Amino acid sequence: MMKTPNGIFITIEGVEGVGKSTNIEAVNEYLLEKEVEFIITREPGGTILAEKMRDLLLQINADEELSELSELLLIFAARAQHLEQLIRPALTEGKWVICDRFTDATYAYQGAGRALDRNKIAQLETLVQGDLRPDITIILDLDPEAGLQRAQGRGALDRIEREKLEFFIRVRSAYIEIAIAEPDRCLVIDASQDIDTVKTNLLIALDQKLETLLGDD
Ligand code: TMP
Repeated sequence: MMKTPNGIFITIEGVEGVGKSTNIEAVNEYLLEKEVEFIITREPGGTILAEKMRDLLLQINADEELSELSELLLIFAARAQHLEQLIRPALTEGKWVICDRFTDATYAYQGAGRALDRNKIAQLETLVQGDLRPDITIILDLDPEAGLQRAQGRGALDRIEREKLEFFIRVRSAYIEIAIAEPDRCLVIDASQDIDTVKTNLLIALDQKLETLLGDD
């Protein structure tokens, strides 16, 4: 079994309106009970400057459209900042890092959603992350139509949430493909059920995954 002196890096992914916040809250409670040191953060964002880059990414630009390549580079610029300032130091100190989205979102949204060349994403991933990858990725899976309805219910949509349903259908498929390609890292949770069932299923699956990752200690 793999033992890691560093903290564990857990990411949470899914289409809009899939219930990430509520489920992250459940993971928060679970980790408090486990008495591990951890931080919860998000992408794009997580530091003061990276949050400014997030604003640039999500705001609706009336004067000028953000080009697809600028979008991709801005996402990785924010990620570089986040990794250097927050994620790497925390992991090195042995803290666990729970991150609301990470590079799988780039493969799903920019790669599948926007049809950008995934080799470009892979190059930036290597440049920015080196060999750092999440230990565990929770993918909350939901029909994007249902997710978008939930997102709409929350108020005004941001620049990415305004994409068409087809975009989010591609995003969802990309997440499922990632999960199939990397079953050791990824947990797929059916997010269409009632929230208590989703939370319970998520925590059971996470517990099992951690046992496998950490061995019996
Ligand atoms: P959030 O609403 O889950 O906080 O995510 C913000 C938006 O950013 C969401 O629509 C997905 C998008 N996004 C990307 O397009 N690429 C990425 O790499 C990340 C991390 C997020």
